[in-house]
Amino acid sequence: MPVQRSILGKPLPPMPPKRIAVLLSTIAVFAIFTLVFTLPNSIPAGPSLGRFTDHKIPIPKLPKTLSPSILNPFRQAAHAPPVQKNSTSGEASWYSNWNWMSPFSSSVTLDENRSLLPPLIDRPPIYAYYDYTLQKGKSHKEAENAVLVTWRRAWWAQGFKPIILSPAEAMNNPLYAELQVLEVEPLLKTEISRWLAWENMGTGMLCHYLLLPMGSHEDPLLAFLRRGEYPRLTRFDRLGSGLFAGSKADITAAVKEALSNKALNESTDFITAVSPETFEIEPKNGVLAYYDTRTVKEKYSKVADEIEADGPRGLMVLNKLTVSHLHTTWQNTFSKGIAVIKPQPEHMTTAILPARKLAEFLIQCPSSPLPSSCPPNNPKCNPCISSHPLQITYPSVYRNTSDLYTIGTVPHPFTTALMSSSLNSESELTIPWIRRKSKRDPWLTTITAELLGTGVSGAPRVVKFKDVVASQYGTSHSLWTTAERDMPEDLDWYFGFTIPRNATDKGESETPVPGPERKPQVSSGPRNSPESAPTDEEVAMTKEKSLLKSAVEFGKARKPDEEKVRKAIEAWNLADTEAWRFARAFLERNRVERLKWEEEERKYAGGKAGAERGKNEGWGRWFDDR
Ligand SMILES: *[C@@H]1O[C@H](CO)[C@@H](O)[C@H](O)[C@H]1NC(C)=O
Ligand SMILES: *[C@@H]1O[C@H](CO)[C@@H](O)[C@H](O)[C@H]1NC(C)=O
Ligand SMILES: *[C@@H]1O[C@H](CO)[C@@H](O)[C@H](O)[C@H]1NC(C)=O
Ligand SMILES: *[C@@H]1O[C@H](CO)[C@@H](O)[C@H](O)[C@H]1NC(C)=O
Ligand SMILES: *[C@@H]1O[C@H](CO)[C@@H](O)[C@H](O)[C@H]1NC(C)=O
Repeated sequence: MPVQRSILGKPLPPMPPKRIAVLLSTIAVFAIFTLVFTLPNSIPAGPSLGRFTDHKIPIPKLPKTLSPSILNPFRQAAHAPPVQKNSTSGEASWYSNWNWMSPFSSSVTLDENRSLLPPLIDRPPIYAYYDYTLQKGKSHKEAENAVLVTWRRAWWAQGFKPIILSPAEAMNNPLYAELQVLEVEPLLKTEISRWLAWENMGTGMLCHYLLLPMGSHEDPLLAFLRRGEYPRLTRFDRLGSGLFAGSKADITAAVKEALSNKALNESTDFITAVSPETFEIEPKNGVLAYYDTRTVKEKYSKVADEIEADGPRGLMVLNKLTVSHLHTTWQNTFSKGIAVIKPQPEHMTTAILPARKLAEFLIQCPSSPLPSSCPPNNPKCNPCISSHPLQITYPSVYRNTSDLYTIGTVPHPFTTALMSSSLNSESELTIPWIRRKSKRDPWLTTITAELLGTGVSGAPRVVKFKDVVASQYGTSHSLWTTAERDMPEDLDWYFGFTIPRNATDKGESETPVPGPERKPQVSSGPRNSPESAPTDEEVAMTKEKSLLKSAVEFGKARKPDEEKVRKAIEAWNLADTEAWRFARAFLERNRVERLKWEEEERKYAGGKAGAERGKNEGWGRWFDDR
């Protein structure tokens, strides 16, 4: 006797088990479809499928013509966000917004090629006054120009907007006429002109071009100055007129006070020309290095002698000294050395070569007139010793260590696939191979393995990666480039000093004979991965080189059938693709930001004074041998 079934209390006619199965599966299918198609935002534009990426469920590729509004009847068809100013460069484009931490940019920008980046952080202005109108010899002007470039670069790297002011700005100030009728010492007159130029610009900092920031990016004083709000007119203990910070109203009041001072002809500098209460004096200024005449005489007498003997040449020597101190400070900040990220060690040697080379440049000792000297603000520094350089490691994972600098190379998933497919003696990249054999998001999964463990899907990994690349902390502790492109040309501006470009291969720094135990171990967990320098045989892997080359060329040529494979790879590795696009856009935006600023500055005389001459000596020569 079959069991009596009922629905809503009414008995149902007996049904054979086969038909019950059919009925149940129909209901199940209907339920799933209802769920998928009616939950708002349950499937936004393509990329959010990424949340499934770690489960090996083949997802049918949705036809491109389906708009999000067709996929989800409750979702309004949306306009893409407006295009922002200067937000494209080459193939990269971006949209800066506060919600940049969402895993997949295209769910906001509605364009797969447009990455979502964090809003650009406002750089507070820092002004230096330079009188380019004074009659000076050519060599003198050149030396001063070199000093100004050093000054601009150092402050730019610390997150400020360095601007060089000239007498033009001072004359623009209505109070300038008042100064002209006063009888004052020429030196004080220059000093007041400096203030008039500053007052003309408004809130910010007034800095001497021989005062440089030398400390970590996180230093509380630099963080305070970066905020760009100065509640009181401030000067800094023991730095004299080297640096002031203040708001427009306070600056105006101080200038007016000085100009109305009856005994102005008796003071020698601006500080004594106003009442002492005008300034708040900040005692904690250990990150500021001031190379004024007195300091140079006291601490670097050799350089002082050079300046005395021959002004311009001496100034060049001083410039070399300051650059070497900036470099030493950087090396002291990252005392644990440099990590060149190298996941998939068996086939990434060529791709990370530029990163490795950059690391080798950075650990070099800068050439300095006084090699074992320390910056004036930090007499206890560790000067660079060439027999004990900083360490370069090649971990496969990213580690968040505050005194370790990370240089990452992000490959496009196509590059990764091309490299690993041929490693597995696969002659061609085919879509079935991608779907059946290749791992999903291999690159991102590897580098975040230690941060996030193994059981996490692509979306949170991308979010973490974005934080590592683009947060304030991240930008000052790491540099991420893409494998298919050259190193950025303006690396000096990232680090804030001239990177030594000597390609000296330190033979002894590489352990000589690699035994079989040094052979790359395939995914034996991050901790046991080979972290030593790649050997020369590895570097000489010509096959790898030609593969990388073809990956790069492919990116340019784009034949239709290859394009199909590339699209399939991108769809299969959503998180890796997103990471690659993000890194590319972030790097490009930094470049554009700097170029835009230089473009603006070039209009002014001061901008010409601090411009890099004979630049674009470029990196190509150093990085193009891979
Ligand atoms: C993104 O860029 C690629 C290559 O430049 C292009 O083929 C594709 O059509 C672009 N996609 C969109 C949505 O613009
Ligand atoms: C400053 O000027 C006043 C009046 O103009 C004059 O009496 C005084 O001697 C001057 N002082 C100096 C040091 O020149
Ligand atoms: C790394 O560590 C710093 C503090 O030590 C923290 O502020 C930052 O958020 C961390 N970054 C990541 C990606 O975990
Ligand atoms: C770099 O090369 C220049 C000349 O080419 C040389 O004077 C300088 O000492 C070298 N620096 C290092 C660190 O090798
Ligand atoms: C920024 O955009 C303007 C026009 O909108 C253009 O003239 C300028 O060259 C761009 N600057 C950079 C650095 O791309």
